[in-house]
Amino acid sequence: MTLAIWLSFPDTRLVPGSSLNQAEGSIRMSVDLRTRVDADQAPVDPADCFAERLPEALDENRNLIAPGASELGLSDFSIECEDAAWTLSWQSDRVSVRTGRGNGALARLTHQQFEDIVNDQTTPIALMSNNLLDMPQGALPDFLNWWLVLRSALDGRRIHASGDVTFSGDKRRSFDSDDSDEDMRAFLEEYGYLHIRGVFSEAEMAAVEADFPVAAPHFEKGDPRGWFATTEDGTEHLVRMEGFDRYSPTSVELIDEDRFQRIGGIPGLSHSQASRKPGSRIGALSKPIGVVKGISDVPWHKDCSLGRHSYECCNLTVGISVTGADADSGQLRVVPGSHRAMIWPAPCLQPNLDLEAIDLPTRTGDVTVHLSCTQHMSQPPEKRTRKVLYTGFGQEAEDLEAAEAQRRRLNEVRSKTHTSVSQEPGYRGD
Ligand SMILES: [Fe+2]
Repeated sequence: MTLAIWLSFPDTRLVPGSSLNQAEGSIRMSVDLRTRVDADQAPVDPADCFAERLPEALDENRNLIAPGASELGLSDFSIECEDAAWTLSWQSDRVSVRTGRGNGALARLTHQQFEDIVNDQTTPIALMSNNLLDMPQGALPDFLNWWLVLRSALDGRRIHASGDVTFSGDKRRSFDSDDSDEDMRAFLEEYGYLHIRGVFSEAEMAAVEADFPVAAPHFEKGDPRGWFATTEDGTEHLVRMEGFDRYSPTSVELIDEDRFQRIGGIPGLSHSQASRKPGSRIGALSKPIGVVKGISDVPWHKDCSLGRHSYECCNLTVGISVTGADADSGQLRVVPGSHRAMIWPAPCLQPNLDLEAIDLPTRTGDVTVHLSCTQHMSQPPEKRTRKVLYTGFGQEAEDLEAAEAQRRRLNEVRSKTHTSVSQEPGYRGD
């Protein structure tokens, strides 16, 4: 018998016919949270936006904005674009917009950056990651708080407020291959992640591990597909190989098998690996101990933290534990339910967030799945190094050409992110 539960996705409007699934008297929400298509994207004039579109949207969505915004401690925030400026103020239960610069935080944006933020193609996190954040006053947290307000107004999403996300059971659960897709789907929808034990054998993972040194010589410093990080002793390590599938036919065979491809079908939507062309299907990560420069262990983030949530979420990110991981060896941590909460998408947990993070230890051959808007991080290993493969399943875009064109444009900037940021040594996410 299906347990009848109503999952609240407070940050999302229901799209009848595509977001609701009704079976055996239960109503469940899918993880298709998309509300935009690239082909519909319109140019944005900043003056028009601040004069008409934004005030209207702020008014229309006041009920989605106010509960969460009142918990953010908002102070005046100004945006300067093309020699003009506007200031947003929080006035007890609503936002006002006025022309001109205030005395509080200030973000300077190019016209393109402003348009991309309005259209949800980019975020303050993407600007920060690419050294493009221009804030002469205030800092990233100010921008992130107001970004939540802008998203809420422009996308009709509710800003997370304490108590919004509730659960029907234990947040910690793992599955094995005998469990049904239906059970895994229900858990994924409610908690935002899956841990599936023993999908692959130790022998299969040993064969994959043997391909790491075979692939490594194909990645040189400066190659955007290769990430490098430096440890305390000054050694530079190759920590990430994008396109590992080129050099590891063993890995390709394994992810093409039904026991793995089944994962894409769990949400019951259009998830596939169609957008992962040969040569870009698998990333292979090898995490050294004691990184002090560069990035090997990414701190708290949603995979949509750089933008495009409303065009793509939720995609599935799937990790294959080539070597097991625990608190000493680079385990994943996730915040169950965070995919149902519009919160800071990175680079740390939002201050005073009422959602709890959990550890996700795995054994060799286990698989983890998280949604692109589930907040997660990997801990830096302390006693044993870790190897893991990442791949994923994406939802099929209705307007494939327009979507690909936007991704290409944004990737020109983003593909260098790993060279412009460094992790905080020893950060464990607490
Ligand atoms: Fe991630």
